[in-house]
Amino acid sequence: MSEAQEKSLFMTRLMTPDMANFSGKVHGGALLKVLDEAAYSCASRYCKAYVVTAALDHVGFKRAVMVGDLITFKCNVNYVGRSSMEIGIRVEAENIKSTTKYHAISCYFTMVAVDDDGKGLEVPRLQLNSEEEKKLFEAGKMRCEMRKEMEQRNQELHVGLPA
Ligand SMILES: CC(C)(COP(=O)(O)OP(=O)(O)OC[C@H]1O[C@@H](n2cnc3c(N)ncnc32)[C@H](O)[C@@H]1OP(=O)(O)O)[C@@H](O)C(=O)NCCC(=O)NCCS
Repeated sequence: MSEAQEKSLFMTRLMTPDMANFSGKVHGGALLKVLDEAAYSCASRYCKAYVVTAALDHVGFKRAVMVGDLITFKCNVNYVGRSSMEIGIRVEAENIKSTTKYHAISCYFTMVAVDDDGKGLEVPRLQLNSEEEKKLFEAGKMRCEMRKEMEQRNQELHVGLPA
């Protein structure tokens, strides 16, 4: 029997004061940095290789995150192509004193496994062991096709930035 794949990863971080913006809440950019670390950890552990971030999409900041809250990043390899992997991340926050929990962010990263020359490296095929995993895979595949279509359409719309 083949080895069980490590496709999910949970990562918890305390939102410290150095992550605050001018209003005292957590800066969106600080969250994006930790999201990227979580996506990297999940993807590289799955494929056992160095990975780079190719794209980030469907980022929904659903609630402002407060300094002092505990944030859990629930990551999953939803879909894999040849060298790319879609990592879905759901971010849940918890106020430590009140124990109130809220859904803060959802997003999808596309991470690509690369070799020492930065060329795409083939990643293991995803074992789909449940109906849920099959659904996640099909949805990831559709988003991958949508990304390619968006990229194509954006190129058609592209106009240079003002000098
Ligand atoms: C991502 C990268 C390796 C792709 O290189 P490339 O020469 O386009 O390679 P390929 O055309 O063989 O594509 C490799 C895979 O990346 C995917 N990919 C490439 N560009 C992508 C994009 N913008 N969005 C989503 N997926 C992308 C391709 O679909 C392909 O997937 P597959 O192998 O599963 O079919 C390259 O563009 C790169 O190094 N980008 C910079 C990454 C970076 O610096 N990130 C920030 C710091 S980590």
